[in-house]
Amino acid sequence: MNATKPVNLWTSTDHVRDYLGRADQISHRAEGESALLEFIPRETRRILDLGTGDGRLLALVRSEHPDTEAVAVDFSPAMLDESRKRFAGDSRVRVVEHNMDSSLPALGNFDAVISSFAIHHLVHERKQALYAEIFALLNPGGMFCNLEHVSSPTPRLHEEFLLRIGFTVETEDPSNKLLDLETQLKWLREIGFSDVDCLWKWRELALLVGRK
Ligand SMILES: C[S@@+](CC[C@H](N)C(=O)[O-])C[C@H]1O[C@@H](n2cnc3c(N)ncnc32)[C@H](O)[C@@H]1O
Repeated sequence: MNATKPVNLWTSTDHVRDYLGRADQISHRAEGESALLEFIPRETRRILDLGTGDGRLLALVRSEHPDTEAVAVDFSPAMLDESRKRFAGDSRVRVVEHNMDSSLPALGNFDAVISSFAIHHLVHERKQALYAEIFALLNPGGMFCNLEHVSSPTPRLHEEFLLRIGFTVETEDPSNKLLDLETQLKWLREIGFSDVDCLWKWRELALLVGRK
């Protein structure tokens, strides 16, 4: 049988350039990012950023937690170039090339695992498996903070969201594999996370948080 490979355009340089050119203008994103900052424990020493892109979220978190070391994971050559540029000269940030379609490599343990707008590019089965891998590598008390693009409950709400971020159903990123918030919160609870909740939301942008 010839299973069709799920679409993921993030290894394309043009796709990356287009995103980075509009990343700052995404409606309400700064609110979501500052909400995420509230859930990083004060005593955090090691941070993992999954789908780091140009390292924007990791840089923001480390500006509030400078006494930390971090690992930034991505698979896109253009994004890896950008994040390596951003963290050049900072020996406490390691940028790791890895395709999250496969299990995470051995990276050690972390006090905080963060991610923004990345995990929805994985098929649902991998999202769930990745959440379990994240639980396994968190230290007790560690936090998982996922600022994520989730699905809308109706096509109309989806179209309205897209319009507000400058897209239509025809032009939205075919790499997106959106999943509803409730299923993802349920998975996190089943895996063993505590204090699981959606702690910020604007339309399809949501902050999912869980504690080990
Ligand atoms: C919308 S960008 C977000 C980047 C960054 N986190 C931010 O908030 O600006 C999605 C990121 O997920 C990464 N990504 C998508 N699929 C991936 C995969 N299978 N493995 C690793 N990274 C992936 C892309 O390369 C890209 O950097």
